[in-house]
Amino acid sequence: MAGRFALEGRLAVVTGGARGIGAGIARVLAEAGARVVIADRDPEAAAAAAARLAAAGFEAEAVAVDLADEGSVVAAFGALVERRGPPWALVNNAGLQDRERLLEGTAAHWERMMAVNARGAFFAIRELGRAMAAGGAGGRIVNVASAALIGSIVAGLAAYTASKAALVGLARAAAFELAPAGITVNTILPGGVDTPGARAASGPPPEGPARRPPPLGPCTPEDIGAAVLYFVSPAAARVTNQVLAVDGGFSVT
Ligand SMILES: NC(=O)c1ccc[n+]([C@@H]2O[C@H](COP(=O)([O-])OP(=O)(O)OC[C@H]3O[C@@H](n4cnc5c(N)ncnc54)[C@H](O)[C@@H]3O)[C@@H](O)[C@H]2O)c1
Repeated sequence: MAGRFALEGRLAVVTGGARGIGAGIARVLAEAGARVVIADRDPEAAAAAAARLAAAGFEAEAVAVDLADEGSVVAAFGALVERRGPPWALVNNAGLQDRERLLEGTAAHWERMMAVNARGAFFAIRELGRAMAAGGAGGRIVNVASAALIGSIVAGLAAYTASKAALVGLARAAAFELAPAGITVNTILPGGVDTPGARAASGPPPEGPARRPPPLGPCTPEDIGAAVLYFVSPAAARVTNQVLAVDGGFSVT
C-alpha cells in the first residue's frame, strides 16, 4: 500500500461493520493496514466478521454497541478508548433501510430511522470525536448517507432520506467544530448495493428511479470501502465537509 493511502497501525471503527457495506468498508481499510473495530448491535455477526478478517491475516476485533441507545454508545466506545486509545477513524455506516409510504407514515417508523441513522451517528461522533480531539493526533470521520439524496430513490423513503440528509448536516457542523483538532468529516452517498439489509428491508415495493440500472453497473461494498479509504487516508488531510456519490454513475441517467 502506497504511503499516502496507508493506514498501517491506525485504529478504524466501522459501525454496522458486521455485514453488507460495513463489512466491505472494514475489509478495504484492513487491507490498507488499519486495525479494524467492527462495532455492531449484532455481537455474533460482528465477532464472525472480525474472525473472517483475522483469518485473512488482518487485525480486527468486534465491539457490541446499539447506536439507538445512548448509554450503550457511551459505555462501548468509552471502554474501547480506555483499552486501545483514541481511534484514527470513525465510519458511521450503521443504518436501517425500512420503507413506509409518506401518507401512511407513523411516528414510530420516523423515530426508529432517526434514532439509528442520524442520532446514533451523533452519539458516535461525540464520543469518539472527543477522544480523537483529546488525543491530539487528528482523525477522520466518514458518514455513510445515501444516493437517495440526489435522485436514486424509491417509494417509502421519506424518513430514511430525511435521516440521511440529517447526516450530511451533521457532517457539515462536525467538520467546522472539529477542524481545529485536525479531524475531517466527509460523507459518502452509496447507490444501490446488494446487501442483507437492502434485501430484507420492509415496506412497500421499492418502486422508483433507483430500480433503473446505473450505467457503470451496481456498486459493491468494496466500491464504497474504496471511497471511505480515500477520505480516511493521510492523503485527504485537507479534505473536509465533502459529499461524494458512489453510485455507478446513476446521476448521469
Ligand atoms: N444497500 C444499499 O443499497 C444502500 C444504499 C445507500 C446507502 N446505504 C446505507 O449503507 C449503510 C449500510 O447498509 P447495508 O445495506 O450494508 O445494511 P445491512 O442492514 O446489510 O447492514 C447494516 C449493519 O448495521 C448494523 N446495525 C443496524 N442497526 C444498528 C444499531 N442500532 N447499532 C449498531 N449496529 C446496527 C446491523 O446489525 C448490520 O450489521 C446504511 O447506513 C444504509 O442506509 C445502503
